[in-house]
Amino acid sequence: MTSHDLMQLESDDQQFDGSLRPRHFDEFTGQTPLKESLQIFIEAACSRGEALDHALFCGPPGLGKTTLAHIIAASLQVPMQITSGPTLERAGDLAAILTNLEPRQILFIDEIHRLPRIVEEILYPAMEDFRLDLVIGQGPAAKTVRIDLPPFTLIGATTRAGLLSAPLRDRFGIVGRLEFYQATELADIVRRAASILQVQISEPAALEVSRRSRGTPRIANRLLRRIRDFAQVRADGTIGEETALRALDLLAVDQAGFDDMDRKILLTILEKFHGGPVGVDTIATAVSEERDTVEEVYEPFLIQAGYLARTSRGRVVTSKTYEHFGHPVPLQMNQESLL
Ligand SMILES: Nc1ncnc2c1ncn2[C@@H]1O[C@H](COP(=O)(O)OP(=O)(O)OP(=O)(O)O)[C@@H](O)[C@H]1O
Ligand SMILES: [Mg+2]
Repeated sequence: MTSHDLMQLESDDQQFDGSLRPRHFDEFTGQTPLKESLQIFIEAACSRGEALDHALFCGPPGLGKTTLAHIIAASLQVPMQITSGPTLERAGDLAAILTNLEPRQILFIDEIHRLPRIVEEILYPAMEDFRLDLVIGQGPAAKTVRIDLPPFTLIGATTRAGLLSAPLRDRFGIVGRLEFYQATELADIVRRAASILQVQISEPAALEVSRRSRGTPRIANRLLRRIRDFAQVRADGTIGEETALRALDLLAVDQAGFDDMDRKILLTILEKFHGGPVGVDTIATAVSEERDTVEEVYEPFLIQAGYLARTSRGRVVTSKTYEHFGHPVPLQMNQESLL
């Protein structure tokens, strides 16, 4: 694939991400306990005429953190200012945003675990007391200026809750952990997306796509779009089970929903390191991928689905992995699972 193709793919992703993104809670499938409590907090804040408490959403990519932030802003009928941890380089960047907020407005900080320390410290009094302490000047002439801010709601999103400092985490009144979706929930999402994209999909086909989407709505939507392309060019334009299976084959998405990188990671541990334990840095080097990407994007699903385990000495694959790749399960592992 050329880089031009890749850019087209990405912009196509973004374009559809927008049109497929749920706008209201009733379009947002799954995450039921979190959704219900958010609706209660929102109603309570609205009836008191107050800003909603600060909220932190954690979880792997593509599970709906950004979507929820948009839905909350729409429910509160307030604007949302969007920024991200790595783009706020200096304290002044954040101060400029904070001083321009309207009362009850939402400030969304994506990848909040990548906020530089000096910026994070500005955020503490802002979140707690709606107050900004700015240091003006340098050396003995420096003085602190205090600026009052309107009450606002900070929504933070992170794929790595563990990297957040304790003082920052403690300042969020609402902490929501997004879970991988059930296949039945993903099937609802696939059916909704198919109707927006105006493509017919059979029930078995919708379920097959859901089962292979790694519990992730973004992946379900992406697979659906690629299968739709396939159906248009190689079939009659509708997505039946057989068309879906052939397209998934072509996309190299296997029965467990693994893509090439998932397989590479698991097979590296299985074949090169005799099932592990092996450190994540070694795995990342062996598969030529960034360590962060391995930890944030690939591992959470492999762990949740029971193919990979974290131990104090490194990553190990499970008997399920041996079975998936048709390798004999080591005797010792069989005994362990009997214990
Ligand atoms: N509960 C849901 N119901 C229906 N569609 C969903 C749901 N959650 C996510 N989606 C779809 O998945 C896409 C990705 O979701 P979103 O951008 O909110 O993920 P994210 O958690 O912010 O990911 P990242 O960590 O990569 O920023 C959305 O555009 C939307 O189409
Ligand atoms: Mg997001």
